[in-house]
Amino acid sequence: MTARKGIILAGGSGTRLYPITMAVSKQLLPLYDKPMIYYPITVLMLAGIREIAIITTPQDQPQFQRLLGDGSQWGLRFDWVVQPRPEGLAQAYLLAADFLNGAASAMVLGDNIFFGHGLPPLLHQADARQTGATIFCYRVRDPQRYGVVLFDDQDRPARLVEKPRTAISPWAVTGLYFLDGTAPERAARVTPSARGELEITALLDSYLAEDALTVQRMGRGFAWLDTGTHESLLDAGNFVRTLENRQGLQTGCPEEIAYEAGWISADALRARAELFHKTEYGAYLLRLLG
Ligand code: G1P
Repeated sequence: MTARKGIILAGGSGTRLYPITMAVSKQLLPLYDKPMIYYPITVLMLAGIREIAIITTPQDQPQFQRLLGDGSQWGLRFDWVVQPRPEGLAQAYLLAADFLNGAASAMVLGDNIFFGHGLPPLLHQADARQTGATIFCYRVRDPQRYGVVLFDDQDRPARLVEKPRTAISPWAVTGLYFLDGTAPERAARVTPSARGELEITALLDSYLAEDALTVQRMGRGFAWLDTGTHESLLDAGNFVRTLENRQGLQTGCPEEIAYEAGWISADALRARAELFHKTEYGAYLLRLLG
């Protein structure tokens, strides 16, 4: 069995964060002490995934490459894929089809922030399911902004609705999708929605129709944060700052995860620490070396 591969969708214009994102891609913005895209990268790393396609707009790709390189600094391998226009999340599977080459995948949206004790086991459970799809849902106050899951009386997923007009279910579908190797061919059968996008919800519907969709609830002990507005972006940054200041631990630190997993050597970690020697981040990396 080929190992599951990762996809990070960092396309899209971030128009709701204008004028800031007129100059820089949203996923490169800081979330407190590191670029936003570090957080979804570390989610995939915590799932044990090392081969990752990063999907960006054509014009943003060089900036992402300057920041992230080929991934070897974290024991990863990045593949670069462009999405000419933001035409829906399901399109990512068409664009990444060659990269996936039949493998199962985990896709995470470049602006989604996950935090929680017990996240790695949740990810490993999803990774262990070789067929079908696993998605994660999270209780939110404003489900109208998301795709939502409706459950039947046996607590099984009954229906998925993209941007419901009313709050028919508080369970929003988070931007983290573990799909099997059939995802690209299923995505090819999705037709554009009224807003002109290949909706991820339509792709997930095809799994639901075959009873092949696992919906994993992320309970209240998790944080799934949004960065879609100026306010939520600042809130997410403050959340990270509060945690890190209190614990003295980093969240979303790729070097730490790579080193703990044995994917990079102590020397490689030291080299990263030196690169950031003027920052608390660099000091933290040095402390990891003991
Ligand atoms: C997308 C998906 C939606 C999902 C959300 C998570 O919404 O279409 O189902 O709940 O991401 O962030 P969009 O970002 O396109 O509004």
